[in-house]
Amino acid sequence: MSTRAPQPETLAAFEKAKGFMPVHEGLALYAAAVEAGALGLPLLEVGTYCGRSTLLLADAARAAGVTAVTVDHHRGSEEQQPGWDYHDPETVDAELGVMDTLPAFRRTLHRAGLEDHVVALVGRSPQIAALWNTPLGLVFIDGGHTDEHASADYEGWAPHLAEGGLLLIHDVFPDPKDEFTGQAPYRVYLRALDSGAFTEVTAHDSLRVLRRTGAGAGGRG
Ligand SMILES: C[S@@+](CC[C@H](N)C(=O)[O-])C[C@H]1O[C@@H](n2cnc3c(N)ncnc32)[C@H](O)[C@@H]1O
Repeated sequence: MSTRAPQPETLAAFEKAKGFMPVHEGLALYAAAVEAGALGLPLLEVGTYCGRSTLLLADAARAAGVTAVTVDHHRGSEEQQPGWDYHDPETVDAELGVMDTLPAFRRTLHRAGLEDHVVALVGRSPQIAALWNTPLGLVFIDGGHTDEHASADYEGWAPHLAEGGLLLIHDVFPDPKDEFTGQAPYRVYLRALDSGAFTEVTAHDSLRVLRRTGAGAGGRG
């Protein structure tokens, strides 16, 4: 795994951005993205939120001369809705009274000078995945944390991961006492390993990095 670090201004923007990923996991995400970028294929994220992790994918994409693609409906996950622990009132559209993280994401990316390296897709992950037909160098799953959403992200995107590409899953908590938003990502991680199409490369707290080492969808079934 690469030891390259993001540009200092990208790291500063990451630390300032709204979001949930700690710096050490961010650095591991960046290292994986740099490595995957060498395949010359797009790097895809499910779960943009306000762009915290997207900044690092964008920096790695810029270095590799590829594009980072980030997918989100921008209406927030279950645990981010009003009344829940992860709700941020600043993410609510005052006119509509519903969450909209797209403006904050766009400001974050613009300020970091990384807009040219990212394509943002706004919509439901399974709906976008159903339209997708391009091999990917990296798939980073950090979307909804219910079994329904985490499984759909895996089933929708893992089949597009090229041989040698990296599958990253965030918020993997093998021990139920450590988890904050459920163990669906852990179950997806187990499913990926069980499929025989992926081999674990590294683990950084709740961030797991797997490589596609086998043929097969590695997502369906
Ligand atoms: C944990 S946040 C992502 C955090 C972000 N990666 C970061 O590091 O700051 C999860 C995001 O997934 C999005 N999301 C949840 N379910 C989704 C779905 N089915 N389709 C698209 N986006 C979804 C939510 O809107 C939310 O912004």
